[in-house]
Amino acid sequence: MALSNGMPVPQHIAIIMDGNGRWAKNRGLPRTAGHKAGGETFRRIANYCRTIGVKYLTVYAFSTENWKRSEEEVGGIMLLLERYLKEALQDMEKNGVCFRFFGDLSRLSPKLRKLCLETQERSAGYHEVQVNFCLNYGGRDEIVRAVRSFAQDVVDGKRSIDSLTEEMFSSYLDSAGVPDPELVIRPSGETRTSNFLPWQSAYSEFVFMDVLWPDFMPEHLDEAIAMYHRRDRRFGGAKG
Ligand code: IPE
Ligand code: IPE
Ligand code: MG
Repeated sequence: MALSNGMPVPQHIAIIMDGNGRWAKNRGLPRTAGHKAGGETFRRIANYCRTIGVKYLTVYAFSTENWKRSEEEVGGIMLLLERYLKEALQDMEKNGVCFRFFGDLSRLSPKLRKLCLETQERSAGYHEVQVNFCLNYGGRDEIVRAVRSFAQDVVDGKRSIDSLTEEMFSSYLDSAGVPDPELVIRPSGETRTSNFLPWQSAYSEFVFMDVLWPDFMPEHLDEAIAMYHRRDRRFGGAKG
């Protein structure tokens, strides 16, 4: 699929949904109001990705480090997530959206965890677009969990140490079966990855943008895709 200007779209786009707090602060609102606005942006952008034919959209919603924030903010985010997922369950049938969750769900409240698993199960048969929602996600944590699970398989005699390849290791990650993102976008003006998809983004193109996430519009996504097309991806090879 392509944009209206004929530009082909990457099959997998990943986004660090950052800048909600600053957006709220600029308006004299509580940080939670920024997260609410950010949730609406997510809905808008996920829908846009579906219409332009993106196959996988991976979004960073809450990191393993975000627990450092005040109880009030974390509680507010968790409440919004619950509300959002309940609505998403109703919407996804209509739009054919498949949801997957990346991250360690065991630290979430039993209620939210159940909702995540239910959403994942009920949407597994939809193929219009796959949204990978990163919740209590940390790239290093994901790698450590994958190593543990591989080691357990070795102990159980299911795998030998020598059989481990990059491909097999990938199959132990939360992103098992999902192709690596071609494009990673970070709005908010920060130019770091903050523990997002370190394994999967080894050869991704990064686009850092100055807009805050609640202000992020489909036009910003078009702009990021245009920047992606101007890059020369060599994957370590030499230019002819
Ligand atoms: C991203 O927005 C949302 C989460 C990390 C949960 P922030 O809350 O980090 O917004 P800023 O960076 O403070 O503006
Ligand atoms: C990254 O943003 C995490 C999410 C957007 C969910 P942060 O706001 O937590 O990252 P830092 O603290 O600026 O690196
Ligand atoms: Mg931030």
